[in-house]
Amino acid sequence: PFAFYARARAEAPVFYSPELDYWVVTRYDDIRDIFRDPQTFSSENTQAPFKPRPAEVQQILADGGFSVVTGLSGKQPPDHTRLRGFIKKAFTPRRIAGMEPAIRAIVTAMIDGFAGRGRADLVAELAYELPALVIFRMLGIPDADVPKVKEWAQSRVAMNFGDRPVSEQAHHAENLVSYWRYCQELVASRLREPRDDLPGALARIYLEGEEEIEPDEIAALVYGQLTAGHETTTALLSNGLKELLAQREAWDAICADSRLIPGAVEEMLRVSAPVFTWKRRTKRPARIGDVELPGETNVLLLLGSANHDQTVFPDPEHIDPNRDNASRHLSFGLGIHFCLGAPLARLEGRVVLEELAARLPSLRLAAGQTFDFNANSSFRGPSRVLVEFD
Ligand code: HEM
Repeated sequence: PFAFYARARAEAPVFYSPELDYWVVTRYDDIRDIFRDPQTFSSENTQAPFKPRPAEVQQILADGGFSVVTGLSGKQPPDHTRLRGFIKKAFTPRRIAGMEPAIRAIVTAMIDGFAGRGRADLVAELAYELPALVIFRMLGIPDADVPKVKEWAQSRVAMNFGDRPVSEQAHHAENLVSYWRYCQELVASRLREPRDDLPGALARIYLEGEEEIEPDEIAALVYGQLTAGHETTTALLSNGLKELLAQREAWDAICADSRLIPGAVEEMLRVSAPVFTWKRRTKRPARIGDVELPGETNVLLLLGSANHDQTVFPDPEHIDPNRDNASRHLSFGLGIHFCLGAPLARLEGRVVLEELAARLPSLRLAAGQTFDFNANSSFRGPSRVLVEFD
């Protein structure tokens, strides 16, 4: 899609898509300004699917007591400020940094699984499960529950961003209800008996009684962490590794000098935004560039396009671990909703590159493969990345 975006940035940087009923924004500066103005460009009710859900599907959700209408990223101040302040008390830099040994152990075990074979699928054997195992560990969820929750999380993505037949949506809605109940029970169990994991820490803060928060709000935050924490990071690793290995010089550079790895992770994030598009809604008339938008209008931000804006990132397709402004990419958003999990995603990216570069420097994309991207407008990643090594 990048050639199309480049044309849009040059010829029609803000355009209306009648098919989606969204105004589409493609330039870096415009998207940055929108993120900085949450009063005009609100994220409230922006997680709804492009098309309203059928009544039958809504009923399943209502009957199941599904109450996560919006996660943190769909809230506005003052609720947003209160909830973000609450979770930040437990989701601290220290807790995130403390995950590094566990992440390294998981990555090492995964690489051990294929290192003797000379070839692997980096999605199935690494990118798909790693972020889930990591966030599950933080949330104190047993490894045995990974497949179940992964399936539910995919249902959530399918429901929110896809456009599927009713019977399929009904199946996904049932999964969503199971997913929600699971989060409620997780929080309830920590309230009965606090433990040293993230829900346990949140429960402890709640029990101290100084925060204005309800148990269902805590369950919704846990639900949000679970979901935000893995589909996105899977896309970072699968896209990023594919791109990095396709640009041999960048890969060889990080193998020769591991100090370049943090820069390479930023470039992986930039060159193929894991969250490719994101949504906002105007709360009042607004102007983006030369275009006047009315109030109550849908706006689609093409983060993937912003990150390739050549006015900010010269030679945008090129992965350069030494690029001095790579971390200005918009893959984590900006402003009050800036991704809460960014330090965790960056940590996972760094550990994966460190371990792969140290152990398998001859890693290369298997010849002749075609990449098949999962059909989803927001999270975009190849379903397989086949590699070979000596
Ligand atoms: C928000 C991307 C990983 C938790 C966001 C936003 C983006 C994003 C674009 C902004 C949404 C908006 O402005 O409306 C990503 C990417 C990731 C990633 C690309 C991986 C490469 C994670 C992880 C977690 C997480 C690992 C949790 C463990 C959140 C939360 C928010 C958020 C809770 C909402 C923050 C708020 O509204 O205040 N993320 N994310 N994300 N992300 Fe991430």
